[in-house]
Amino acid sequence: MTEPDATPTPDASFSRRGLLGLAAAGGIGAVAGLAAGAAIASAPDATGGTPASARYPFFGEHQAGITTPAQDRLHFAAFDLAPDATRDDLASLLADWTEAAARLTQGLEVGEAGAVGGSPYAPPDDTGEALGLPASGLTITFGFGPTLFGTADGVDRFRLAARRPAALEPLPRFSGDALVPERSGGDLCIQACADDPQVAVHAIRNLSRIAFGRAMLRWSQLGFGRTSSTSTSQTTPRNLFGFKDGTANIKAEEPDAVAEHVWVSREQGPEWLVGGSYLVARRIRMIIESWDRVQLAEQEALFGRTKGEGGPMSGGGEFAAIDLAATARDGSPVIARDAHVRLAHPETNGGIRLLRRGYNFVDGNDALGRLDAGLFFLSFQNDPEHFVTVQRSLASDGLNEYLKHVGSAVFAIPPGAHEGDSIGDTLLN
Ligand code: HEM
Repeated sequence: MTEPDATPTPDASFSRRGLLGLAAAGGIGAVAGLAAGAAIASAPDATGGTPASARYPFFGEHQAGITTPAQDRLHFAAFDLAPDATRDDLASLLADWTEAAARLTQGLEVGEAGAVGGSPYAPPDDTGEALGLPASGLTITFGFGPTLFGTADGVDRFRLAARRPAALEPLPRFSGDALVPERSGGDLCIQACADDPQVAVHAIRNLSRIAFGRAMLRWSQLGFGRTSSTSTSQTTPRNLFGFKDGTANIKAEEPDAVAEHVWVSREQGPEWLVGGSYLVARRIRMIIESWDRVQLAEQEALFGRTKGEGGPMSGGGEFAAIDLAATARDGSPVIARDAHVRLAHPETNGGIRLLRRGYNFVDGNDALGRLDAGLFFLSFQNDPEHFVTVQRSLASDGLNEYLKHVGSAVFAIPPGAHEGDSIGDTLLN
């Protein structure tokens, strides 16, 4: 099967409005088949982003939204199942979410009647704010939290305890954590990424609406400005500290690295998760007012990279290999012992690499008049322990003085669904 992430289809005529008639005539199966079979791969636009009209197939071997070129905008949501929800409710919710996501990612409205095609005496199927907007590269990625497989006090609500992957444990406490329970955890998650914020928000809003009575929103996060590249076709963006972020990330064009570090293999198991991954989400507040008073040379030393080009302090351009052994004339390491890239580097962590896919956020300000800004860190890896290893290594990161981890969650990301199946079928059936 082809990698779904690699076949965006540019076609400006495929707006939600344009597809109203087509959807009514052929239904979602026809449209999904059209999308999955579309062979025209779009070249990224000149700025390295994806065209607003790009469409990524929803169905495939892996879920989209992982190796897909990181879009510009994010709406992430964690949900808890209703206290009285049954296993059948969970199955029906995942089936309804799959059907809606397959439509939304193709630029279609939720439900064939959509926002304005139904009865004037009933609430519309679709909330309507994305009418006329193209798919905008929307991807919708679903995940399952540890609490889906049993509550902290051991209640197996959905008869799933026996299927819980051994690796899917709540993350341990890290030094410096200042976690807020209301921004952490969740039975289920949805990551919606798009190049238009209205399209990403529309997706989460409508999926939350579909969940009504079965699951409710626990926390959510908006993100703007991707903080990583997941494709060599993209330019490297910058985080809110002003540094290029994503240079050494795993890219879709490195299939061996993706296979080795991202997708759960048969050997790792469990069987239902093969082709899936694990997602770690961390809401990291950046104390940017303090950072902005730090001298440029000190900022660069803290990262171990230059601020302009993003090259390693050991020399060379942005993509030059980092020389962790390089020493200055006085014998001190050129890349400081507490530099972020030294501590996060695979050489320091037994070869571990993560696929980072985070976003900048600014959520207003705090009572002290400081921006509530930071990095909504998202990483995909085939074992959450890989994140744990790197995060523990970062305990002595000089950057920590300017960071506060306030939200945390981990989810198993099931493999993609094949057409006609639902996300989570491999788990529930
Ligand atoms: C707000 C917090 C953070 C900021 C601002 C930040 C920023 C950066 C920057 C600018 C780079 C260098 C460019 C690049 O290769 O992407 C980098 C590299 C990296 N970061 Fe972070 N990062 C943060 C948190 C984290 C966390 C929590 C982890 C994982 C636990 C992490 C893992 C990595 C890894 C694996 C690399 C690549 C190292 C290499 O192979 O050279 N980062 N980060």
